[in-house]
Amino acid sequence: MSTSGVDVDRAARLLLGGGVVAIPTETVYGLAATARDAIAVRRVYDLKGRPASHPLIVHFADADGAGEWAQHWSPETDALAQRFWPGPLTLIVERADFVPDFVTGGLSSVALRVPDHALTLQLLRVVGDGLAAPSANKFGLVSPTTAQHVRADLGNGVDYVLDGGPCRIGVESTIVDCTVDPPQILRPGAVTVEDIETVIRSVAASSGPSRAPGMLSSHYAPKCRLVLVESGARPTEPMSGSTRTLDARVNPSTFAREMYAELRRADDDGIDSLLIELPEPRGIGLAIRDRLSKAAAGR
Ligand code: TXA
Ligand code: MG
Repeated sequence: MSTSGVDVDRAARLLLGGGVVAIPTETVYGLAATARDAIAVRRVYDLKGRPASHPLIVHFADADGAGEWAQHWSPETDALAQRFWPGPLTLIVERADFVPDFVTGGLSSVALRVPDHALTLQLLRVVGDGLAAPSANKFGLVSPTTAQHVRADLGNGVDYVLDGGPCRIGVESTIVDCTVDPPQILRPGAVTVEDIETVIRSVAASSGPSRAPGMLSSHYAPKCRLVLVESGARPTEPMSGSTRTLDARVNPSTFAREMYAELRRADDDGIDSLLIELPEPRGIGLAIRDRLSKAAAGR
């Protein structure tokens, strides 16, 4: 792992010159370009193989920087930003007039986040503006939680990988849509409903098909077959071929941190079926269940 300012300066130089750089965050690695550079952002979409209609999250060093990209900054938005940034929370707000369509997929809203990772915060301060970054994986496949995962997925396509070690949380940020009243969770993550309701009076839980473009029902998918079982239940389908079992119930936070690496490991080891015992649907357990059900969809 690198802790050197030299690496941050190199990453900043490349980004300011129109490059594409993989950056560490506390959730997963992102594939970053400066958010006002149409050509660099286009390269991010091309490298991922992601449809241009799927909007990106713009990352900032602090809430003041993020706020400039918003049309309105409501008291509730501010309360969430003050309490959880830097941290694994993305806020959807009405966008300021200058915010480019190529970042928002043409939506009138924009997704903003201040990530909690020392190297990337340093990088954001040097760059001095927003970095648009989706997770640094190929479209539809497993998100990367180490620099090695990024290199395995994107190889030479990316100009530089800023190695910040393994991600501390391991699943993508909680997304809260602040353009509706009450605000609504579009994607569960490490910041939970209970956490959010300590700050604002109420938040609507994510329910049914997500309104966030790009949250397809099949996502985060490994090659092996995923079999998900509720605590204490038995698989309803017969297991065949080589099988591995993982238990997400004992320590959901630790499981979340290792989850994507485990999906990759199962494929690297040629496992046919991965059986996972699901955690309770609360806290980070909701995020684990959300990602695994999408990873298992359609196979
Ligand atoms: O933890 C994370 O959020 C990571 C790290 C790199 O920051 N990023 C991440 O980005 O997960 P991505 O692109 O893989 O997922 C972003 C999600 C997409 O599902 C996208 O549709 C949604 O955020 N999104 C972005 N802008 C939106 C908007 N204006 N309205 C609704 N959903 C939006
Ligand atoms: Mg993603």
